[in-house]
Amino acid sequence: MINLGVNIDHIATIRQARGTTYPDPVDAVAVCLAAGAGSITAHLREDRRHIQDHDIERLAAIPGLHLNMEMGANEEIIAICERLKPAACCLVPEKREELTTEGGLDVVSHQSRLADVVARLTAVGVRVSMFIDPVPAQIRASQEIGAPVIELHTGHYANYKGEQQVHELNTLRDGAKMAGEIGLIVHAGHGLTIENTPAICAIPEIEELNIGHAIIADGLFKGLSQAVMDFKTVMGR
Ligand code: PXP
Repeated sequence: MINLGVNIDHIATIRQARGTTYPDPVDAVAVCLAAGAGSITAHLREDRRHIQDHDIERLAAIPGLHLNMEMGANEEIIAICERLKPAACCLVPEKREELTTEGGLDVVSHQSRLADVVARLTAVGVRVSMFIDPVPAQIRASQEIGAPVIELHTGHYANYKGEQQVHELNTLRDGAKMAGEIGLIVHAGHGLTIENTPAICAIPEIEELNIGHAIIADGLFKGLSQAVMDFKTVMGR
């Protein structure tokens, strides 16, 4: 079975849009786990646009939760990860102006700095994953710096259509195979939807998918009817 990690960032996006205390992403944990998710992913961004420090602190304090902390390799955030010791973390490139994580990490160009980050987080018991494009040099570099896991970036596959999408799927399949052969654990994620996820699940090396935006978006419509009915009930007439 492939593990589903649910990324709960965008529950916090809705909360931050109004500066309210609801919806609380921490309340989503029990719902996701009861529905079959095996882990929870949250990205503490440098700009704190969605997940806040108190969210990640409360998530890290949930007994037995397999928390995957997504993060840029930034000193402040690394120190938080070292202190909270989530089960896992996924290192991603982070730019302030981007809408979401736009490309994979360039492990090749930042090999020695990232090797240091992997060593620091591994030393406190965090399983480190590198979010990379399915490029052989990046896969090899991730293994060389001691990362036990890679998360293959499926964003291009998700954005493409037709032949380009088939080509990207083949690249992901080749990358996963190569990673498996050199002993890496393979995860994947970004831009996955109910339509484009099954083909990714057919790649045998993939052990985990991290999915956020589409699950939260689908969840709105799957729950909207009940929310309207509840308001009609409290309105009384
Ligand atoms: N994996 C990584 C490394 C990501 O950066 C993201 C986006 O936060 C995801 C998975 C989930 O992507 P999406 O929200 O498009 O499902």
